[in-house]
Amino acid sequence: MSVIQPTHNLSLAELDKRSFFHPFTALADHLETGPRVITEGEGVWVKDEHGQRYLDAVAGLWCVNIGYGRREVAEAIYEQAKKLAYFHSFSSMGTEPSIRLADRLIRLAPAGMSKVLFGCSGSDANDTNVKLVWYYSNLRGKPDKVKIIARKQGYHGVTVASASLTGLPMLHRSFHLPIPEVRHVSCADPYRGKPDGMSELDYSAALAKELDETIRREGPDTVAAFIAEPVMGAGGVHVPPEGYFQAIQPVLKEHDVLLIADEVICGFGRLGQWFGSQIYGIEPDLMTIAKGLTSGYVPMSASLVGEKIWQVLIEHAHETGPFGHGYTYSAHPVAAAAAMANLDILEQDQLVRNAETVGAYFQSLMRERFAGHPLIGNIRGIGLIMGVEFVAERASKAAFPLPFKAAALVSKHCLAAGLMARPLPGGDIIAFSPPLTLTMAEAEVIADKFGEGLAKATDELRSSGRWAG
Ligand SMILES: Cc1ncc(COP(=O)(O)O)c(C=O)c1O
Repeated sequence: MSVIQPTHNLSLAELDKRSFFHPFTALADHLETGPRVITEGEGVWVKDEHGQRYLDAVAGLWCVNIGYGRREVAEAIYEQAKKLAYFHSFSSMGTEPSIRLADRLIRLAPAGMSKVLFGCSGSDANDTNVKLVWYYSNLRGKPDKVKIIARKQGYHGVTVASASLTGLPMLHRSFHLPIPEVRHVSCADPYRGKPDGMSELDYSAALAKELDETIRREGPDTVAAFIAEPVMGAGGVHVPPEGYFQAIQPVLKEHDVLLIADEVICGFGRLGQWFGSQIYGIEPDLMTIAKGLTSGYVPMSASLVGEKIWQVLIEHAHETGPFGHGYTYSAHPVAAAAAMANLDILEQDQLVRNAETVGAYFQSLMRERFAGHPLIGNIRGIGLIMGVEFVAERASKAAFPLPFKAAALVSKHCLAAGLMARPLPGGDIIAFSPPLTLTMAEAEVIADKFGEGLAKATDELRSSGRWAG
């Protein structure tokens, strides 16, 4: 029988190692290294328990769009919690902040969006969207139209359906996934996927042809939806090639296949417009939003449901009875109040415009300073999202032999220099997605600190004999 030991004498690190299961963490390594405990945040800066400051160039997990420490959001949370900390939205119940938020989101969203079904995370909102697609097919008398096509390297979350949509083997291996209804087509990756000499337009046409062939092979009567991030985030920050969504959408229309735009990262200004769909001419039937909706101050997500789908739900509502889906915390009033305050800040401080202008500066600054570096194969991005891809050899685009990743080494040295930049789970890539409050001076701090981390990593690679570049 195990005896429960008292824990009051243990340090935070020891407590963590005893009891805390860290998501997306190398579990055995963590028992050696322990946690890095973050205690405070202000603007683009965070501080750890030892007082070390870091410029958080990832905005947490691509989510703190308004930056840290905004009192307006904290006060909105406090006021709502005092007045009504919780009430649900089942059985026609509602709360004022969540109703006002739904109205505001529909007015902000691209044309065609009609209703907001709230959730708690990007993953659960994508699961909701999968279920809505299936529900829609069933109501239309097409019960076999169930397959969802996603893209390799796309990231859509970790719950059973959304991890299946995610196109990263790490999320499938050993988890008995993906579910049988999911298929993956090629990632739209102009750096590695586009043959040399081919134009971006031709590459887009080739990707649309692959999608068309996949739908025909599977049988259009079995394919219900296609899901895509406007700019692929965690799978490598892949900006779509020119004409990509213009080539994809007619294929979907021809085969009566719905389009789900996963705007979890791209939404709420990151690309320099409110939504990525507006930049790339995407006309979604469903949208997934989370992250920037509350800037991560409290969890909240939503599925935005297009009028086309809503009309079918309404037509059949008397046959189906009550809609059988929703979470205890759907439309949580405290989260809705936080989202309203967050949207006020995005609007009043013109942060979407800032993402466009400072984003353009940041993109050119990083390219000017680092595009010629022998360890860097490609720098890409738009607005305030960027991917830096590392290679062992620029001419051949050869990657380092796995399991080594230069991105992990560079990010370790960046961290020591006081910069958080995120090595991604697929490829050898570091991502940047700083708060949208970023100033030009802070963009320069990122470039300086990245330069410092990159130089240290380059020296270490050369002196270890691992790399002769
Ligand atoms: C595009 C996209 N969709 C969905 C998700 C899943 O969101 P969550 O981690 O809130 O479940 C993420 C998370 O990074 C994401 O980037």
